[in-house]
Amino acid sequence: MNFEIVLATNNKHKLQEVRSFLSPHKIVVYGLNDLNLKVEDVEENASTYQGNALIKAQAVAKLTSFPVIADDSGLEIEALDNIPGLKSARFASSLGGHDNAIKEILKRLEDKNNRKARFICDIVLVNDGDKPLLFEGIAEGEITKERDGNGGFGYDPIFYSYDAKKRFSELSEEEKNRVSHRGKALYKLLTYLRITHQSIK
Ligand code: IMP
Repeated sequence: MNFEIVLATNNKHKLQEVRSFLSPHKIVVYGLNDLNLKVEDVEENASTYQGNALIKAQAVAKLTSFPVIADDSGLEIEALDNIPGLKSARFASSLGGHDNAIKEILKRLEDKNNRKARFICDIVLVNDGDKPLLFEGIAEGEITKERDGNGGFGYDPIFYSYDAKKRFSELSEEEKNRVSHRGKALYKLLTYLRITHQSIK
């Protein structure tokens, strides 16, 4: 029997990345839309990624009996005091989208030598009354001088991954999952689920 889990997101790209990682292991991943789950607007106002992921996971766990995972992620740029960080999504929406946010970041980095950056992803698993569990992944890299590549989403066109030696936007979904912050966090989640559920290969 397949193991079923809900990903607390409406972001199609995230859902696709998580599905492509977990489905080969007989894990069916539902997005909120698949189950018609309507989550009231929850304010992601925690001061950490894990705090925000927990807020999202708990809001969805109230609506379903399936185990729920939620992720919170962000891009931290060293020379810019680690912005946009926790506010990566808000930074983009406040500028009218990721294209403008990318332009803004490239502008702010024009005179900087240090272009080091990292993506962080915290995934929280909430299952029944069990204690919530945290799985974290970090992808190290740097911000390129210009955008390129058509894959991925968000800030991918300007993030050069040290592991892949390419921009995230130049990787297939499978390649990105092998090196990305989300892929690394998912690998830890999968390892845990394999130990606790024998149906998972
Ligand atoms: P969240 O949905 O609150 O986790 O917001 C994450 C935000 O961080 C997204 O809207 C993107 O701006 C950015 N982000 C997170 N993961 C990625 C990724 O894998 N590639 C590019 N941008 C990402």
